[in-house]
Amino acid sequence: MEIRRVGVLGCGLMGSGIAQVCIEAGYETTVLEVEQRFLDKGFGAIEKNLSRAVEKGKMSAQAMDKAKSLLKGTLRIEELQGCDLIIEAVVEDLKTKNEMFSALDRLCPDHTILASNTSSLTVMAMAASTKRQDRFCGLHFFNPVPVMKLVEVVKTIATSQETVETCFAFSRSLGKVPILAKDNSGFIVNLLLVPYMLDSIRALEQGVASIEDIDTGMKLGCNYPMGPFTLIDFVGLDTLFNIANIMFDEYREKRYAPPPLLRKMVLAGYFGRKSGRGFYDYSGEKPVPVDLGI
Ligand code: 3HC
Repeated sequence: MEIRRVGVLGCGLMGSGIAQVCIEAGYETTVLEVEQRFLDKGFGAIEKNLSRAVEKGKMSAQAMDKAKSLLKGTLRIEELQGCDLIIEAVVEDLKTKNEMFSALDRLCPDHTILASNTSSLTVMAMAASTKRQDRFCGLHFFNPVPVMKLVEVVKTIATSQETVETCFAFSRSLGKVPILAKDNSGFIVNLLLVPYMLDSIRALEQGVASIEDIDTGMKLGCNYPMGPFTLIDFVGLDTLFNIANIMFDEYREKRYAPPPLLRKMVLAGYFGRKSGRGFYDYSGEKPVPVDLGI
């Protein structure tokens, strides 16, 4: 099936990144938000990224104008009616997602594929709110979307092979590398990455080493681009806490249980980079490790 028009639900970090790679690849893209200010913020980030690419000579000014002309924002779900593929990237709340999916299921033509960028919910729990379970899958992108090459294509027990093939071809057309994952909470990457991030917090709680030394250890010892605490601040402590809770509910295994320190930091509003403070304080020129009294 040919995808020409794409809809994106949500214009936050992930939604705006997905919209950016779609317009860069030449897709007419409509982004739905609940308030204009969220669209303005996400479109501002896209504009900044594209302008930077032009400044660096990685994109022509003409290509940027073409990409921008393909981008549209809306507050009305009806405007997604003509989309061939709709990718949901709203808050990790099943009820919110399902309200949108069942409305889109009623609104969209038969051929439209609905996909979720969920990081930890079971895709089938969303597909079940529609009458198009065969044209429903997971499309899990990674942050920052314009840079990260991977897309997990998640096939539920009801997703058709045609839908999987269409999503593989679509992901490749964005310059991404798709991999096939089963519909298990956390898919492939978060199944392995979430316990690693939680274990890092447990190591800190146990006084194994300092925030900086654990980060330096994993960065230089494994050649990871970021140490675990820099990565958690980047992903968001609130996001990690939410994902860990969902995965713990699913598997009931200790390795997915959020450590008490994470819970306390989320309660204190230490969400990471987005709030200016997580394991590091971002108010100065350089991030400084926060004294957590450990
Ligand atoms: N948006 C767009 N582009 C960005 C960006 C952003 N937010 N951040 C960095 N970039 C671009 C830069 O412009 C630069 O582009 P260039 O090569 O054309 O000049 C390039 O990325 C490299 O950036 P920097 O030189 O500033 O910094 P780094 O080399 O340190 O790279 C990084 C930054 C790409 C974020 C790198 O540190 C990294 O890969 N970190 C790990 C990220 C990661 O693990 N993400 C997965 C998180 S888990 C997830 O998303 C799943 C979810 O379900 C939780």
